Amino acid sequence: MSPGGIATAVLVSGSGSNLQAVIDAVDRGELPLDLRLVLSNRADAFGLERARRAGIVARTELWDRRGGESRSAYDARVLAAVRESGAEFVLLLGWMHVLPAAFVERFAGVVNIHPAFLPEDPGADVVAVPGGPEIPAFRGAHALRDAIEAGAAWAGATCHLVTAAVDRGPVLAREPMRLHPGEGEAHALERLHLIEHRVLIEGVARWCASRNSGFSTFSTH
Ligand code: GRF
Repeated sequence: MSPGGIATAVLVSGSGSNLQAVIDAVDRGELPLDLRLVLSNRADAFGLERARRAGIVARTELWDRRGGESRSAYDARVLAAVRESGAEFVLLLGWMHVLPAAFVERFAGVVNIHPAFLPEDPGADVVAVPGGPEIPAFRGAHALRDAIEAGAAWAGATCHLVTAAVDRGPVLAREPMRLHPGEGEAHALERLHLIEHRVLIEGVARWCASRNSGFSTFSTH
């Protein structure tokens, strides 16, 4: 890992292919990150195994519903775990749990990878694909599935800053992806992952560069 880099925690819930892309980019010297912690809200997330293999502390914070734990108590526990790692930067890479504004405010930056081509304007609900049509901005937990079910011709990936408004933070990098007619979600997701990994590294590199230059306004133009 990159000691002396920006202290970073990564939150995952699943296979962690985006986490792996970040680990590999750090190893290649492309991202100045010091990966301190990988935290999952699922004990069986393969992302935890990827973290261990890379020598990163891997931790599981489960929501103890049976113990009657409230949502706010759980959120506080996640915040404490991330703060303990010393992270000032947080990457949400497939993390399936909406975090409160109070979490986001505690860090220099929180960045998410989202499986849809989102508009630059956070208030817009449609987005123009460059050289293509205008499509709905698919936000929420199942954006790729929603795009396929809506019969959209395009999907995509967006790396953006996380704000209190879910999936409406400033865009750091994005790329559209054409959907093949009749293509299923699993096949489309396999193709989309490759695009996500590229968009993620580009977006995170951009955030790191803007942090070093003191810039905080982003535009993909
Ligand atoms: C990605 O498709 C991401 O866009 C979505 O969850 C998926 C995580 O995949 N939010 P992985 O765990 O990084 O392989």
